[in-house]
Amino acid sequence: MPGKTFYIETFGCQMNAHDSEKVVGTLVSEGYAQVTTPDEAELVLYNTCSIRDKAEQKVFNRLQNFKRNGKGKVIGVLGCVAQQEGEKIFERAPHVSLVAGSASYSQLGQMLVQLEAGNRRVTGLSFDNPEAFDTPFTRRDNPHRAFLTIIEGCDKSCAYCVVPFTRGPERSRTSDSVLAEARGLADKGYTEIMLLGQNVNSYRDPSPAGWDFATLLARVAEIPGLRRVRYTTSHPRDFVRRIVDAMDGNPVICDQVHLPVQSGSSRVLAAMDRLYTRDEYMRRIEWIKSAKRRYALSTDIIVGFPGETDADFQQTLDLMDKVQYDSMFSFKYSPRPNTAALQMEDRIPEDEKQRRLLIVQEKQRGIQIRRNAELVGTIQEVLVESYNPALQQWGGHTSCNRTLNFTHSDPEARDLAGTYLSVRVNRAGPNSLVGETATVV
Ligand code: 5AD
Ligand code: SF4
Repeated sequence: MPGKTFYIETFGCQMNAHDSEKVVGTLVSEGYAQVTTPDEAELVLYNTCSIRDKAEQKVFNRLQNFKRNGKGKVIGVLGCVAQQEGEKIFERAPHVSLVAGSASYSQLGQMLVQLEAGNRRVTGLSFDNPEAFDTPFTRRDNPHRAFLTIIEGCDKSCAYCVVPFTRGPERSRTSDSVLAEARGLADKGYTEIMLLGQNVNSYRDPSPAGWDFATLLARVAEIPGLRRVRYTTSHPRDFVRRIVDAMDGNPVICDQVHLPVQSGSSRVLAAMDRLYTRDEYMRRIEWIKSAKRRYALSTDIIVGFPGETDADFQQTLDLMDKVQYDSMFSFKYSPRPNTAALQMEDRIPEDEKQRRLLIVQEKQRGIQIRRNAELVGTIQEVLVESYNPALQQWGGHTSCNRTLNFTHSDPEARDLAGTYLSVRVNRAGPNSLVGETATVV
C-alpha cells in the first residue's frame, strides 16, 4: 500500500465509537493517513454493529457498493458483525480482506503487516486474548470529552442479546491503568470523561486492590482537573446502592443514570433472563430518586419480545408512568443469531411490534416535554461544544445530559467551545432546551 490512506465508518454504540478512536490512533502511528471518503482511501474499514438486524444489514449494503468500484482497495470489516459472522463474510463479500472482532484489536499491528504483505484473508476472531485494547495511540474525536474503557465484554446472557457473542467474556482493566489514563487525559486538558463498558457495574479490579465500580468511580472523580465524570452502561442487577452514594459524594459525577429496564413485566424480564424483577428494578429507582441530588434517568426498552402479551406491554407503560424517564431508547425486538430467544415461540407480528413501539415513543415524548419544561427558569452548567452560525446559538450538554442551545452576548466573540458556562433555560422542547448565558463560571 504505497500511499497508505484509510477511511473508517463506525456504527453502533459508544464502545464501538471508542474502539474506532483506538483503531485510528494505531493506524496513524503505523504511518497511515486518514481520509474522509472511501473513494480516496486504499484501506476502507467498517466498524460494525449487530445489535439488531437493521444495524447488521447496513454494513452489507456498504460492502455491496464496492463490488463494482472497489478495485485496488483493501476492505476490512471490524467489530460485532465481524465477530458474529467470521469467515462467512469472505464468502458473502469476496472483496473483503480483513475480518476482525474487538477482542483481537490488540493484534491490529500484526494484521496490518499481513495485509501490507498482500494477504487477502486476514482474520482476528479469537477471544483467547486476555489483554484489553489499551493503546497509547488513541485518536480522540472530541478535544474536551473523552471515552475511557474500564471493562470489556459481558458475562450476562440476556436472551435477546448478541453482545456476549460479539464482545466475549468480561475483562476488567486494573484500577492503576484506568487511573493513569484518566490522569493523562486530565493533564491533556480533557475535563469530561465517560467510563465505558457493556456492564460497568460488574467492574472488578483484577489487581490486589480489588476495587468495585463504586470505588473506581469515586476515585476517578477525585482526579484534579476533571469537572465531569459519566458512565455507561449499567445492568440493574449489579447496580448497588454504593454507586448512588458515590454520586452523592462528589458532584463531579454527573446528574445522570442510564439504567436499561427492557420491560415493565416481571414475567417478560424472567423470559429475557434479566436477573431482576420489576420490584427489584423499582427499588433501584427509589434509591436514585431519594438521593441527595436530582439525577436524570434514562433507559432502554424492547417491545414485542416473544410471548409479550398486551397485559405485559401495559406494565411497561405503567412503569414509564411511575419512573418518568428523562430520556429513552426504545426498540422492536429483533431476533439475533446464537441467542436463546431465537428458539422461543410466540413471536409477535411485525405490525404489532410497530404499534407498541409507537405507543411507547408517543408516551415518552409527552413525559419528556413535561420533564424538560420543569427545567425552564433554572440555571444549568453547560460544557460548550459547538456554534451554530445560522441560529447564532452555542450548544452543549448539561450535567443531566440535556442538549442546551443558547445565545451569548460576548463582544469579543471568542471561541467558547470547551468552556463551562452558566445558562438560564428559557424554553424547552421534547429533545432539547434553549436559553441564554447567565454569568460566566
Ligand atoms: N432486539 C432489540 N433490541 C435489542 N437490544 C439489545 N438486543 C436487542 C434485540 N435483539 C437493545 C436493548 C439494549 C440496547 C443497547 O439495545 O434495549 O439495552
Ligand atoms: Fe452494537 Fe452491541 Fe456491538 Fe455495541 S456491543 S457495536 S451495540 S452489537
